Amino acid sequence: MKNIAVLASGVGSNLEAILEAVERGEVAGRVVLAISDQVEAAALEKARGHRIKALFLSPKNYNSREEYDQALFDQLKKTQVDLVVLAGFMRLLSTYFIRSFPLQIMNIHPSLLPAFPGLDGVEQALNYGVKVTGCTVHFVDEGLDSGPIILQEAVPVIQNETIMTLQQRIHAAEHRLYPIAIDLFCRGKLQVEGRRCFIFD
Ligand code: GRF
Repeated sequence: MKNIAVLASGVGSNLEAILEAVERGEVAGRVVLAISDQVEAAALEKARGHRIKALFLSPKNYNSREEYDQALFDQLKKTQVDLVVLAGFMRLLSTYFIRSFPLQIMNIHPSLLPAFPGLDGVEQALNYGVKVTGCTVHFVDEGLDSGPIILQEAVPVIQNETIMTLQQRIHAAEHRLYPIAIDLFCRGKLQVEGRRCFIFD
């Protein structure tokens, strides 16, 4: 059974979808820890609601990104975490941290990467005028939303779309996709060669 930690700064709807999938037995792992850099993050409450240990790590208590990431690292190692899942975690992670967990950190991004990386992926896609966007689960490397792609789901952009309506449908897709990617990882079904992530039965 793999140990999963979820890092989240905000609402935590992905965290909740993951916890529900775990509870339904759809993920071959268990969430052992949720960490946030925001004391007010609803994600922390959601974790506690599912009786998951939830930790607020305040950036104010550390002098640098490296020191903060060291504290993060210590918590994850203490809990023997196998997979770090970023679910709306709004802090950049240091190179040192990313290298400490090679192909063990996943992120979900609200666009079909490599299109529209960075902040506001939904808004960027809408303003660009694409007819199809979606979401991407990928491994985290040292670049911005640039690691090997694990899974993607397409979401059509409809007539009279607003950021809100598009975001809602992308969120629904994220909630389906993320638990599947995490389960594949936990069952040892993912293998990365260069940029390509192969999925085995
Ligand atoms: C998601 O849209 C995800 O794509 C992005 O951050 C958002 C987090 O939403 N990385 P939530 O906190 O899981 O509701």
